Amino acid sequence: MQAKPKVLVTRVIPEDGLRVVSDACDAVIRKDDLPPSRDELLNLVRGMNGILALLSDRIDGEVMDAAGEQLAVISNYAVGFDNIDVAAATERGIFVANTPGMVTESTADLTFALLLAAARRIGEGIDYIRTGRWIAFKPMELLGKDVHHATLGIIGLGSIGLEVAKRARGFDMDVIYYDHRMRAELGRPVGAVMCDSFDELLSRSDFITIHAPLTDATRGLINAEVLSKMKKTAILVNASRGPVVDTDALYDALQSGRIAYAALDVTDPEPLPADHKLMELPNCLIVPHVGSASVETRTKMAVLAAENLVAGATGGVPRHLVNPEVSKRRQPG
Ligand code: DGY
Repeated sequence: MQAKPKVLVTRVIPEDGLRVVSDACDAVIRKDDLPPSRDELLNLVRGMNGILALLSDRIDGEVMDAAGEQLAVISNYAVGFDNIDVAAATERGIFVANTPGMVTESTADLTFALLLAAARRIGEGIDYIRTGRWIAFKPMELLGKDVHHATLGIIGLGSIGLEVAKRARGFDMDVIYYDHRMRAELGRPVGAVMCDSFDELLSRSDFITIHAPLTDATRGLINAEVLSKMKKTAILVNASRGPVVDTDALYDALQSGRIAYAALDVTDPEPLPADHKLMELPNCLIVPHVGSASVETRTKMAVLAAENLVAGATGGVPRHLVNPEVSKRRQPG
C-alpha cells in the first residue's frame, strides 16, 4: 500500500476539515493557538507534501525550499492569499489554493454590522453605559448618521462587494462603486452604479467600504490625499486587508476630524496592540479580523481548505487554484 502523503496544518481548524486531512494524509496538526515562529515553521515544513496555512503564516520561497522538492500544494485557509509568494510557488511547480466563495456572505454581513455600528455609534453607546454616563435621555447625546438613503461607495466590486451592495439596497441606500476593471455591467444585478473615476466615488460617498485584495497596486491606496477627498462626514469601513489603508494617515484624518469615523475589521499592523494610537480614538471602531468568523463559514472554509490540501498532496489538482498555470504534476513521495 502506498504511504500516505505528509502534510502540515499550522493551526487547529474546525474538526470537519481536520477529519478530511487526517483520513487521507499523515498529518502534523500543530495544536498551538498562536502562529509558529519563523524557525518553527521552517522546521515543521521539512519533508511535507502539503501545507495548510493561515493568513498569518508567511509562506515564501525560503519556506518552500525548507519543505523540499516534494512540496506539491499550499492550501490557504482564507480567500486572500497575500501571505503567500505565489510567484515563488509557481516557479517551483507548487499549487496554491484558497477558499473563494466560502467567506463572501459572512464578510458582507460583518461589513454591514461595522457600517451600522459606526453610523449609530454603537461602541460608544456601550461604553457610555459601562462608564455610568446614562443618567437621562438626552436629546443631543450620541447622535449618529442615518444609513437609509445615504450613498454607499464600494471600492472593488468582487463577490464580497456585490453582497454588500445587496444588503445596502435593503436599506434604501444609493450604491456606487469604483472597480479597476471599469465595467458598468458589474453593478447592474444589484443596482450599483459605476463611478467614472476614483475621485468621483470619494467625493460622493457618505460611507466608503473597501473590498479590494491586497496587491502592490492597492497597498496604501487609502492615503492622506485620498482621505482629504472624502466628505468630512464620511465613514470608512475596511474588511479587506489592513495595509490597503495607511494607518498613520487614517489616524490623522480621524483625529483632526477630516473624516468622521472608521470601522475596521483589519488593521496594519495586525494584530493591533491594545495600546495602539488608533485605539484611543472615540471615532474608530475596531474588531479583530472576524469577517469570516461564524461557525458555519469557518467550518465550510476548513472543509474546502482540507479538500484542496488533500487533492494537491495526493497527486490531484485542488478545486480552487490561485495559480492554475502550475501544470507540473507531482506524486507524493
Ligand atoms: C479571508 O478569507 O481572506 C479572510 O480575511 C479570513 O477568513
